[in-house]
Amino acid sequence: MLSYQHGYHAGNFADVHKHSILTLVLNYLRRKPKPFTVFDVYAGRGLYGLHTTQAQKTGEAEQGILKLADAPWPALLGDYRQALRAVNAQDSLRYYPGSPMISHSLTREATDLVLCELHPQEFLALQQTFAGKGRRVHLHRRDALEALRALLPPSSRRGLVLIDPSYERAGDYTAVGDAVAGALQKWPAGVYMLWYPVLADGRHQGLLRRLEQSERPWLRSELQVRRPGIGMHGSGLFLFNPPYVLPEQLARLADWYEPLGQDGVATLQNFVSGHF
Ligand SMILES: C[S@@+](CC[C@H](N)C(=O)[O-])C[C@H]1O[C@@H](n2cnc3c(N)ncnc32)[C@H](O)[C@@H]1O
Repeated sequence: MLSYQHGYHAGNFADVHKHSILTLVLNYLRRKPKPFTVFDVYAGRGLYGLHTTQAQKTGEAEQGILKLADAPWPALLGDYRQALRAVNAQDSLRYYPGSPMISHSLTREATDLVLCELHPQEFLALQQTFAGKGRRVHLHRRDALEALRALLPPSSRRGLVLIDPSYERAGDYTAVGDAVAGALQKWPAGVYMLWYPVLADGRHQGLLRRLEQSERPWLRSELQVRRPGIGMHGSGLFLFNPPYVLPEQLARLADWYEPLGQDGVATLQNFVSGHF
């Protein structure tokens, strides 16, 4: 059963963490004038209103992107800012772009976007968001992990796989770990970006320990915004084959995330593998 809807959470601290790093990865992939493919297998609806009933109910964007809207933005995050501007009039922030929209804004014709979404309503909304946005956008109403087994590697041989599950079932952590291992075997050169919640009960730890066994270069980034307690206190991203410039870029951005702290200052911690 699919009950998660990202409209309640769009623009929250986890989106800021995930999407800011997504823009850095896309920027790196764009540097070579060669085609690449973006697989976003838990796509969501692509675009979210920040004044909808869903958004107002949780107020999560107020603790996320809206806290940073008027702060100075570092030049490194120019692409993130551009993606926000692309869906808003002037400097207002009424809409928040989901990961598919960010990837669409920051790439051109030579980049194929493969977007998978299983929830019927979310898929319909995704179709509406991307209507008329070109033949490079490929929409699939299918299971994310099945799509990874079926669609990798892409003919472009370069690109990114964003895996952003809603972790609604206890078995999802194991299933995601299996799928990432299988995907890496089929396409060892792809850049992989997996989001996970940082939880006090440590449910995510088994998945991380397993991923860290890999001989591929990896980077793990965690943004903690409150003391561990009930629910998610941080946002995590695990990347395989990350751009080599990313650790240094993240070190420069640490201060920018600080206002996202909910009982103090938010902290960004990054770890890299010995194979980096
Ligand atoms: C966290 S949201 C995605 C947010 C999006 N990646 C972004 O950053 O804007 C997860 C999405 O995955 C969808 N989903 C859940 N299970 C799925 C599955 N097995 N296959 C594909 N999509 C799924 C949910 O309906 C939800 O829209």
